[in-house]
Amino acid sequence: MSQTHKRTQVAIIGGGPSGLLLSQLLNLAGIDTVILERTSRARVLARIRAGVLESGTVDMLRAAGVADRLVAEGHTHSGCVFTDDDLMVRIDFTGLTGKAVMVYGQTEVTHDLYAAQDELGTPILHEVSDLVIHEATSSAPYLTYTHEGRAVRLDCDYVAGCDGFHGVSRQTIPAERRSEFERVYPFGWLGILSRTRPAHDELIYANSGSGFALASMRNANLSRYYVQVPLTDRVEDWSDEAFWDRLRACLPQDIRATLQTGPAIEKSIAPLRSFVCEPMRWGRLFLVGDAAHIVPPTGAKGLNLAVSDVFYLHQALISALRSGDTTGIDRYSDRALARIWQAMRFSWQLTNMLHRFDGEDSFAAQMRKASLMHLSQSETARRELAENYVGLPF
Ligand code: APR
Ligand code: PHB
Repeated sequence: MSQTHKRTQVAIIGGGPSGLLLSQLLNLAGIDTVILERTSRARVLARIRAGVLESGTVDMLRAAGVADRLVAEGHTHSGCVFTDDDLMVRIDFTGLTGKAVMVYGQTEVTHDLYAAQDELGTPILHEVSDLVIHEATSSAPYLTYTHEGRAVRLDCDYVAGCDGFHGVSRQTIPAERRSEFERVYPFGWLGILSRTRPAHDELIYANSGSGFALASMRNANLSRYYVQVPLTDRVEDWSDEAFWDRLRACLPQDIRATLQTGPAIEKSIAPLRSFVCEPMRWGRLFLVGDAAHIVPPTGAKGLNLAVSDVFYLHQALISALRSGDTTGIDRYSDRALARIWQAMRFSWQLTNMLHRFDGEDSFAAQMRKASLMHLSQSETARRELAENYVGLPF
């Protein structure tokens, strides 16, 4: 089979938020990229993901020139609510930190990034298979892959592994050179989308005797809800009615009383995991986003951590390619991991504070209640949570 030979400055594996945002920022700086995506664009855009953007993420999307729709359709949230049965504690992000977050679906961010990349004419190849990274530790790395039935070789200066948790990039780092840290939680989140008025004008993170629930939204007529379920549950085990009953049981009476229910237009179960791979660099290969780390959705950090990785890496690659200054790429892994571990801690802490663990004793349940009571009584505790939720500095 004949092989097509191509070249680019930065080869990007993965057409999700990490790959798209990195490519957009590099292209705007005059650096050429190629994005290689395993699935179709439709499949990428069909993924339902979290919808909370830190202020740093909004700034990066503005810098990438993709924030117009976000500004027009996104919703600024200056706080959120934590509850323990009928105890309701509002975390005043803006009052405590001077910052807010934006609620805007990740799917919309991905859509906006694809539109911007198309406008720049960036090569984005879908349905790419058999991708292999070669010579990552040499000065001339290259990829081989199959696309449209043809074997292709792509030579490049650098490779960005933006291919998520199940990608090939992390596996390219020899196992004996990787340190992996993981916590798999013994429960999942059953999530639904419904064309209903959101339960509250701000997000509600609910701890209760019935377990954890989250009341979120996409807009005034589209709600996003989650309830904690055992890992053994399947989506087909949950009727809409059973979902609404569990959600009601988790929410405070005042919220429950006005909850609008309706048919689920999307229903899925996501497992919860904390994961970090060190290092995030192997020669001229750099791991970005979910390829290097996974957080439980409790702290809404997944997309925001991918964005801070992109912040560090795009600056580093521009310096290296423009002036040969490799300080940034030499520091990338340590800089990214320093912020990742802080978000990892916050997400792990919130997950433990809000979820009931199978087989836990009564003391554990009391500790959760005491944590939420402490939050209600201590502005210092609320400020610490707010600082982490709105996003620590890049
Ligand atoms: N070759 C090409 N593409 C691949 C390969 C491969 N071998 N393996 C995976 N991919 C693609 C996936 O199909 C996916 O579209 O890489 C992309 C990775 O995208 P994400 O998983 O969305 O990861 P990332 O871009 O880092 O975004 C992180 O997305 O998963 C959420 O919660 C996460 O919000 C966070 C954000
Ligand atoms: C969501 O709206 O999907 C969402 C919001 C906050 C989270 C997780 C998910 O912590």
